[in-house]
Amino acid sequence: SLALANACGGATVTQTVGGAGSTVTVTKTGAAGATVTVTQAAEAAALANGAVLVHYIINGVDYYGAVQPYWTLLYVMREKLGLIGTKKGCDTGDCGVCGAIVNGRIVNTCIMLAVEADGANIETVEGLAPKIGKELDKLQQSWVDNDALQCGFCTAGMIMTAKALL
Ligand code: FES
Repeated sequence: SLALANACGGATVTQTVGGAGSTVTVTKTGAAGATVTVTQAAEAAALANGAVLVHYIINGVDYYGAVQPYWTLLYVMREKLGLIGTKKGCDTGDCGVCGAIVNGRIVNTCIMLAVEADGANIETVEGLAPKIGKELDKLQQSWVDNDALQCGFCTAGMIMTAKALL
């Protein structure tokens, strides 16, 4: 299964990936300049399981870990990282509910493989108003002010698409 380490403050984090005794050592030197050191055991275990090691910066936070080559970015964000603001709708790239900004462009994350996003800077709806219950992003507030929510399920995708457009 996926083991993702959220490294912070220059800390060194050791996480188990795959089989017993395998580790990934992460040394963060900066938000965009992070370095990753992988032990041979971890690499062997990950490869044995068919996994691929990846690094993302999501809403300014570094994430490292091993993903299966068939996992989508949406699956990793929702099921492995707990970023459930990005929704799953059609799961075929048609509806846009799963929209997130990847390297400055809106992407339907249900049809982007997690390995394709390796090294990417990703923005999700969680990054717009990080302090829940506090001030909303201007786009979010505009949605509220104009009763644009409808049922709300696709709101995150619409807001992130609008953000990318603007
Ligand atoms: Fe519909 Fe991704 S869930 S486009």
